Amino acid sequence: MLKEIHILLTYTCLYECDHCFLYCGPEAEGTFTITQLRQVFTEIAKVESINKVYFEGGEAFLFYPLLLEGIRLARTQGLEVGIVTNSFWATSVADAELWLKPLAELGISDISMSDDSFHFSAEENPAKFALQAAKNLGMPAGAICIEEPTIQPNPTAAGESVVGGGVIFRGRAIEKLANELPTRPARELTTCPYEDLTNPTRVHLDSYGHLHLCQGLSMGNIWETPLSELVKNHSVKKHAVCAPLVAGGPQQLAIDNGIDSGGRYIEECHYCYEVRKQLLDQYPEYLVPKQVYGITNP
Ligand SMILES: C[S@@+](CC[C@H](N)C(=O)[O-])C[C@H]1O[C@@H](n2cnc3c(N)ncnc32)[C@H](O)[C@@H]1O
Ligand code: SF4
Ligand code: SF4
Repeated sequence: MLKEIHILLTYTCLYECDHCFLYCGPEAEGTFTITQLRQVFTEIAKVESINKVYFEGGEAFLFYPLLLEGIRLARTQGLEVGIVTNSFWATSVADAELWLKPLAELGISDISMSDDSFHFSAEENPAKFALQAAKNLGMPAGAICIEEPTIQPNPTAAGESVVGGGVIFRGRAIEKLANELPTRPARELTTCPYEDLTNPTRVHLDSYGHLHLCQGLSMGNIWETPLSELVKNHSVKKHAVCAPLVAGGPQQLAIDNGIDSGGRYIEECHYCYEVRKQLLDQYPEYLVPKQVYGITNP
């Protein structure tokens, strides 16, 4: 049952982290307008099971008035609100309190600050200021920490290695971080490990209207079919990309589409993303937007 909508308020970001699975950065486009946000909330109200909205991106604080209005809309409808941010705005604890106070007054259930070496150097860390400011204001806050990939012994297969650190190999993470990491044969990658494509409890929504089951894997477009209908009618069996993924992971998706599946990949998502990238023009309804696949001039 769908419980959460994660609104990608924008794909734009001041940073261009190596691990970013959405290929966000200063040049990335795709920001909601207030009219679009209002339409989204009208539709959310029709799906009873949704009780929480997250604002993320890209970097949602780059569009601060829009973020505030979005939170206000959500709270007016009785929805819980969460936020994920890189804290670029937290130049000191006192300054961070200025940014957070209006949000705290609206009532936030969770604000998560990304605090790791992908976002900051050890000397300069706005996430620490932001976290302290949130605590001072009594906001429920926490940190998200993704580590650089590490090579570790495989606990279940002697002599083999696995990759640790928490990076999921999708998007820019593959381009920037995949080199020279241990790999597994494609034939072993037969599950979708991180997302429930059949009964998702959360989905991500971008301003183009794509309702992402996983980054770049869309349920459909809410500007063509209203969100409430898309959610109600979602059927894995009828979804040309989800059906094979649920049946046999990325290996099945490759086989069903006649893609040579003889290679080696770090993990399931690495393989899935590489196969999906070859199928973009075959499934333009589902494998979108192209910018999430690193294609900037589609
Ligand atoms: C896409 S960012 C958007 C919000 C904000 N810009 C930030 O970085 O916190 C949301 C979260 O996804 C995480 N993330 C991005 N790419 C990832 C990847 N390849 N694997 C795991 N987490 C990732 C980020 O570290 C961040 O905590
Ligand atoms: S992970 Fe967050 S901060 Fe880094 S590029 Fe992506 S959206 Fe920006
Ligand atoms: S296997 Fe594919 S659909 Fe499943 S979580 Fe990984 S990238 Fe997403």
